[in-house]
Amino acid sequence: MPGPEVEEIKSRIDIVELVGRYVTLKPAGSHFKGRCPFHPDDTPSLHVSPEKGLWHCFGCHAGGDAIGFLMKIEKLSFPEALSRLAAELGIELRREGEGRARLLQVNAEAGRFFAHELRRPSGKKARDYLLGRGLPEDAWDRYRLGYAPEGWDGLLRALGRLGVEALRELGLVVPGERGYYDRFRDRVMFTIADDQGRPIAFAGRSLAGDPKYLNVPNTPLFTKGTVLYGLDLARDAIRASGRAVLVEGYTDVISFQRAGIGETVGSMGTALTEAQARLLARYTDRVVIAYDRDAAGEASALRGLAILRGAGLRVDVALLPPDEDPDSLVRSHGPGAAREVLSSTLPFHQFFVEALASRHDLSTVEGKERALAEAKGFWPEIRSLPLQHELARELASLLDLREEEVRSYLRGEGRPVLAREDRSRPGPEEHFLHFLLEGKIPEGVLEDLDLREFKPEYRPVVAKWVELWHGGRKPTAEELAGALPPEDVSTLTRLALLDVSFSDEAQAVEDAVRRFLYLPRLERQIAERQARVRAVEAGGDPAEAARLQAEIRALCQERLRLLRKR
Ligand code: UTP
Ligand code: MN
Repeated sequence: MPGPEVEEIKSRIDIVELVGRYVTLKPAGSHFKGRCPFHPDDTPSLHVSPEKGLWHCFGCHAGGDAIGFLMKIEKLSFPEALSRLAAELGIELRREGEGRARLLQVNAEAGRFFAHELRRPSGKKARDYLLGRGLPEDAWDRYRLGYAPEGWDGLLRALGRLGVEALRELGLVVPGERGYYDRFRDRVMFTIADDQGRPIAFAGRSLAGDPKYLNVPNTPLFTKGTVLYGLDLARDAIRASGRAVLVEGYTDVISFQRAGIGETVGSMGTALTEAQARLLARYTDRVVIAYDRDAAGEASALRGLAILRGAGLRVDVALLPPDEDPDSLVRSHGPGAAREVLSSTLPFHQFFVEALASRHDLSTVEGKERALAEAKGFWPEIRSLPLQHELARELASLLDLREEEVRSYLRGEGRPVLAREDRSRPGPEEHFLHFLLEGKIPEGVLEDLDLREFKPEYRPVVAKWVELWHGGRKPTAEELAGALPPEDVSTLTRLALLDVSFSDEAQAVEDAVRRFLYLPRLERQIAERQARVRAVEAGGDPAEAARLQAEIRALCQERLRLLRKR
């Protein structure tokens, strides 16, 4: 989605000045350093590179560009951060004002088109589907449900007069080889509204085939992770009941609301974001989570809960019966079952610790270590002191450790319990990746890179880099940051801002290539031949064994040569 304004904003904003509004920055070589505002930081772990336009914290591993920094520190959505920076720089955002109103009108027309199609003869299977799920005609109106017809251009023909460009911007049509075609075909349609009830996006459920749900991509009206489904209809009930009930799916929202739990909103399947938490906090200070049991305990859901807590909300978790989601619960056991589930909940800290306990084997030292390490990953989100205390207490009793020990470990003090590889110390692989991002790795080396040579956490970054490189030219770290999902951006910024000191850059690049690629490749060749020698000797083929031994000797010599070069 990044339009020309985004590029202009990024190029004009002074990232050091922006970060410097919140953090005291001191120059350190080509970077600036300061104390990270996102976790308790005694050493200056936050590095800012004016040259690359990126920042990274080597303590909590947050990182990104200027817009990402403003989003995180001010808890803004992408469009919000963008328009704030644009206003400061005096850049006019195309989509504000008039453009936006017009796009909303086009979406409203599209909603009317889908609603109409649902009521036509050809909409019978969608009608049957909805009726079969217990959704009668009054629900179609209230939830603005519809049907996207079969064929490739139903919507395009009906709404083409509004301009195909607007339809494309709204994600309703997609460019193909022979012109545009409808994104949604033969799907039951759900209208996604903002908290004022304005139709900002659509999702379509398939009647057969994958994917089950298809959403519009990010558009000028809709940014994934900033909206809560059903909030427009739930607002009054949330205020009246003093709480919001948070579920995952579209049908979960509709079923719960229809069962009398009007305060239900949907996170739409993805992990909860800070923007969604902030949106909820505008209406209430209390949230009850009703996710299916497996989903609620997953790390991504736990992080979402920690984010809600971080936004100052009280969070309780409802335990659904196994294999039920809120919608299926209401449909098979009635509205009473939904109310019952919501009346017996676990407070966040108890649920959090129990979820850790259920996913790690706490009878072993390793299992305890993994549970602690996972808890540590959430710690920066947990800002409330009493909650920190509660969590540490629960964990300590579960793991049979002293509460103080647990707390200081979670705060990042003292020796890490896990004695595994020290992730903070960069090795040859990190150096190699740093030079890759700088565009310094020679083409000949790039040609035969294998993704499997990299640690799994680095693969998305490398894959995207290579993809963009195949597209024409080596991307800069900043371009790459724009093309990666948020969870990979911090990995990228850590690598891009790595402090590599060297007196001779060309030599340092060569060293990184040799130590990260050539030596391990040689080691693998040697190990592979040694295994074959053992097999061949067992099979009684001395001639072949001797030939392999000679190869191994040659490879070992080569290895020695490479090692001596250092
Ligand atoms: P679920 O897979 O739990 O589906 O996804 P559901 O809501 O129970 O759907 P039904 O009852 O089978 O119709 C939960 C939510 O995740 C998002 C949607 O918001 C969905 O409601 N999702 C799921 C997608 O966006 N795409 C998908 O392919 C699947
Ligand atoms: Mn369901």
